[in-house]
Amino acid sequence: MCGIVGYVGSEPAAHLLIEGLEKLSYRGYDSSGIATLHNRHFHRVRAKGKLEKLKEKLEGQENLATIGIAHTRWATHGMPTEANAHPHQNDKVSLVHNGIIENADSLKKMLLQQGYEFESETDTEVIAHLLHYHLTQGLNPQQALQKLQETLRGAYALGILFAQDLNRIYIMRHGSPLVVGRGETGHFIGSDALALGEWCQQFCYLENGDFGWIEQGRLSLWNEAGEPCERSFQHVSVVSENQSKEGYPYFMAKEIHEQPQVIRQTLSAYLDFETFGIKEDFAALKSQGYKRVQIVGCGTAFLAGRLGKYWLEGIAGLPTSVEIASEFRYCQKPIETDTLYLFISQSGETADTLAAHEIVKAVGAPTGAIVNVPHSTLDREVDLSLYTYAGAEIGVASTKAFTAQLCALYALSLCLAPDHKKLKEHFEVLKSLPGLVQQTVDRIEKEAPRIAMDLAKTEDMLFIGRHTLYPIALEGALKMKELSYVHAEGYGAGELKHGPIALIHAGFPTIALLDESALKEKTLSNVQEVQARGGPLYGLVSEGALTAEQEASFKDILYLPKTSEEVSPFLMTIAVQWLAYFTAMVRGNDIDQPRNLAKSVTVE
Ligand code: AGP
Repeated sequence: MCGIVGYVGSEPAAHLLIEGLEKLSYRGYDSSGIATLHNRHFHRVRAKGKLEKLKEKLEGQENLATIGIAHTRWATHGMPTEANAHPHQNDKVSLVHNGIIENADSLKKMLLQQGYEFESETDTEVIAHLLHYHLTQGLNPQQALQKLQETLRGAYALGILFAQDLNRIYIMRHGSPLVVGRGETGHFIGSDALALGEWCQQFCYLENGDFGWIEQGRLSLWNEAGEPCERSFQHVSVVSENQSKEGYPYFMAKEIHEQPQVIRQTLSAYLDFETFGIKEDFAALKSQGYKRVQIVGCGTAFLAGRLGKYWLEGIAGLPTSVEIASEFRYCQKPIETDTLYLFISQSGETADTLAAHEIVKAVGAPTGAIVNVPHSTLDREVDLSLYTYAGAEIGVASTKAFTAQLCALYALSLCLAPDHKKLKEHFEVLKSLPGLVQQTVDRIEKEAPRIAMDLAKTEDMLFIGRHTLYPIALEGALKMKELSYVHAEGYGAGELKHGPIALIHAGFPTIALLDESALKEKTLSNVQEVQARGGPLYGLVSEGALTAEQEASFKDILYLPKTSEEVSPFLMTIAVQWLAYFTAMVRGNDIDQPRNLAKSVTVE
């Protein structure tokens, strides 16, 4: 989603800003722009599309300004055009914004009455003109910001240049995250620390309502009440993760291949395979005596929670509810202090998940996160973080972060299980997991293209599964939608008769997930129902799970290594990832940055 970078210091700013934007590009964007300030004039360059377009425009321009702001935009208000790209400006103010201003329409109306003209359809331009208006009313930049803060409703992180203030970038934050980085040659701002890791190791995370400015060697802040405040810098070593594809055609392919290692790392962070014990930090959770678990997340993270529910209930015996964050935050569910509230997020910056967490925190109930990005907002706000050791995930479609979330959930279920003596079997099963996942990654990579060729020709499809394979059917449908743009639905196989079976016809494929579980025969009955209505069937099947006669119902089958019921959801996950990947490839889609999507969804 939108990204912000800003720099003020002794070096020319433009090239630093572009490098910062490149680091943020994984978040997804559709236009970009920079503005520098020199001799009281803004020099702004913006472009629609990829950063390359912006770089082409900047090529050959000598720009010695040592202060500037930059932005990657993911369209919310208005199409992805150059006119809507940030920075937005007038002769006094130039600014970049992440978030959404909810009262932009009424503010715009007021500004139109004051004679302001708008060249974009964005909510951000309203902020630029509102600040301009306050300056013309005799306020200085700091006073104008305070006034702004009282007026704006919604979420915002802002980096602002005032033409009258040559050496400062003004900053302000409410809802959307903003971080200040201290570098050797100057101060930076960023929407996340990842953009600044190359130059900074000391970071200060702004609190909600903070506003102020950065200069070359200084940060000055005021809190929401307008009182000066100190926020400390902390040492954060942003691991400059390898953002190269390492020979793979797409980050997604690389990240699918990384899963055996990610699983190994995440499991061994929590489980001791030598002693069959739970690692100490994690075991402390057990003494809390939770009665229930409430999981909250969005998209793929939510679906990890849907699968985790089976383990938390089946292994730990804890009633578990799972809710999407955008509903949880408004559902007025009673918050109970003997419930563990568990927020799952790869980025730790998802606006809905953060808002849901705030509600629980306000009541004082215990909160935990399964999170992949250390120092992210969620990581900083929860009582306890269970990290997933997936490393930076660049592909917009989540793959390795999902399997790492599953590992953390499985390990958590073991930790919370009442009788640890019965757990040995689970340890044995999990020990074999990385190897089985490796076999699946390699095998299905070779075989999935065959089925993907068929799937790419359709516009609708269905994934079905039961029990722990039901959430994977949902995840398969989500992956397929976001990557191939084919309409896909995931259903619990037993639910087919209650409506979706009406969709079945010769051009509507159903992908059935089948393993050697007690419910296999029931899923096979549902497969028969599809076959009887002429729907083409494809199977993702554990080796040995079908007889020759049962195989005959399917047009094609991808066989996964034979394994236990506990492990098969992991292997099925790999299969649905490759299926979506190759279907998207056949359709010629942008695999790492699918249309309309953002990696980190920082607005509601
Ligand atoms: C997954 O493929 C998606 N791109 C998306 O659903 C994602 O999982 C969701 O936006 C939640 O993100 P988070 O894990 O960073 O909170």
